[in-house]
Amino acid sequence: MALLSGCLTLLGLVGSVAAQTQYTSTASSAVAKAAATALTLSPTSNVAGSKFERFVQIFLENTDYQKAIADSEYRPDTDRMRAGPPNYVAAVGANTFGVTDDGFRRIGSSTKSIVDLLEAKGVSWSVYGEDQPYSGFEGNWVNQKTGKADYVRKHNPVMSFDSVTSDVNRLAKCKNLTMFDKELAANKLPQWMFITPNMTNDAHDSSITVAGKWARNWLTPLLANPKFNIDRTLVILTFDEGSTTGTNQIYAVLLGSAVPSAKVGTTNSTRYNHYSLTKTAEDNWGLGSLGQNDVGASAFF
Ligand SMILES: *[C@@H]1O[C@H](CO)[C@@H](O)[C@H](O)[C@H]1NC(C)=O
Ligand SMILES: *[C@@H]1O[C@H](CO)[C@@H](O)[C@H](O)[C@H]1NC(C)=O
Ligand SMILES: *[C@@H]1O[C@H](CO)[C@@H](O)[C@H](O)[C@H]1NC(C)=O
Repeated sequence: MALLSGCLTLLGLVGSVAAQTQYTSTASSAVAKAAATALTLSPTSNVAGSKFERFVQIFLENTDYQKAIADSEYRPDTDRMRAGPPNYVAAVGANTFGVTDDGFRRIGSSTKSIVDLLEAKGVSWSVYGEDQPYSGFEGNWVNQKTGKADYVRKHNPVMSFDSVTSDVNRLAKCKNLTMFDKELAANKLPQWMFITPNMTNDAHDSSITVAGKWARNWLTPLLANPKFNIDRTLVILTFDEGSTTGTNQIYAVLLGSAVPSAKVGTTNSTRYNHYSLTKTAEDNWGLGSLGQNDVGASAFF
C-alpha cells in the first residue's frame, strides 16, 4: 500500500509536469486541432507611464554591431548597445537562469519574469511571433510548403518560463502577427509588446540585409499609423547577440513618438545590455524589480 501510494504521488507529479508543457506537438494534425480551440487573449490597459505609454521590443538575430551599422539598409537614428548575455530569456527575466543553448529549456514555476511585474500593476502585455501557428503553441513550426524554419520556441522569450506555460491565460497572450494585425485594426494592442519575425525575416536563416528590409517594410507604415504609434510610444529594435565572439557589441535603435526630437539621429555610448529592457519597463511603470540583473542595469529611457 505504501508503495502504491508512492507510485500515485509520482504519477501526480508527472501529470502536473506534462500540463506545463502543453501545446508542444508539431504534427500538422495536432496543430490544426489545437488551433481550433486554443484560447487567445487581447488585453489592453491604460496605466500611465513616466516616460512612455507603450513599449515595443523587436528582436532580430545574431548580427554584430559593426555589420549592422555598415549595412546600407540599416542607418536609422541609432543608439548603441553592448550586449551581455546573448538571449531572449535575459530580456524578460533579467537573468539567463543557466540557459545557454537552444534546447527545450524550462525555468521553474517559482521564477518570475517581467510578466509577473506587469500583471501586478495591470499593464497589459503580449508576445508576438511571426508564423506561430496558434496562440500558446510551444513547439517549433516550419513553413508547411518549403519545410524551412518559421516560428521557433527559443525566440519566444517567455516560453521557457513554467510560470507562463503552466497558465493558459498567459499562453493565450503569446500570439502570431496575424493576431497583431487584427488587434492593431481593432485598437486592441497592449502596452508592453515583444515581437520576433520568422527565422528568415530575423536574419537567423538569412542576412542583415533581409532583416533590415523586413524591419523597414514592417515598421515604416506602423510608425505612420496612429493606432500603433500612439502618443509616447517607444520602439526598440535590436539583436539577440552578435554573430562572432569578442566584445559582443550589438546594435539597437530607438524609434517612436516617445523619442524626444532633440535625440533623433544621436547615438549614446552608455553601456546597455539586455537587462536594460526589463529595467526600462520597470522604471517607466514603477514595477519594482525582479531582484536579478535588472537592478544594476541602465534604463534606455
Ligand atoms: C494565428 O493565431 C490564431 C489564433 O490562435 C489562429 O487562429 C491563426 O490561424 C493563426 N494564423 C496563422 C497564419 O497561422
Ligand atoms: C517569413 O515571413 C514572410 C512574410 O513576412 C514569408 O514570405 C516567408 O515565407 C516566411 N518564411 C518562411 C520560412 O516561412
Ligand atoms: C544616454 O542615456 C542616458 C540614460 O540612459 C542619459 O542619462 C544620457 O544623457 C544619454 N546621453 C546622451 C548623449 O544622450
